[in-house]
Amino acid sequence: MKRLILPALVMASLITVARAAVPEPSVHTITLPVVPFELPDAPGRKAVMDRCVACHTTRYITMQPRFTRETWTNEVTKMKKTFGAPVADEQVEEIVNYLVAVRGK
Ligand code: HEC
Repeated sequence: MKRLILPALVMASLITVARAAVPEPSVHTITLPVVPFELPDAPGRKAVMDRCVACHTTRYITMQPRFTRETWTNEVTKMKKTFGAPVADEQVEEIVNYLVAVRGK
């Protein structure tokens, strides 16, 4: 029995020492930037808000250079076909019209 008690005591004191050496975790807070969902008012804005903000903010739209209708159509097609944006075929025109109105050439 003696053979077990001594190692047990050594272990217990080691654990106590090890615990004391670990510093208390400090609470660290960060403040994330707030990016407003701002889209100019124009017909089709609601469709864009419904269909285009699930994956990224509307800044992906507003920070683009002014595109032609063809480029915006390709962009919406890419969102739909490549990335799986939930846009019905009959919604594409309304969304493209909006994009051309606010960020068109
Ligand atoms: C299913 C997710 C998803 C939805 C919904 C979505 N997008 Fe995107 N979008 C992406 C991804 C992924 C990227 C590429 C991000 C990157 O490259 O960093 C992107 C990038 C963009 C860009 C930047 C240019 C580019 O081609 O990379 C624009 C503009 C854009 N999206 C517009 C739209 C519009 C307009 C809609 C609505 C029709 C839309 N997105 C809906 C996933 C989505």
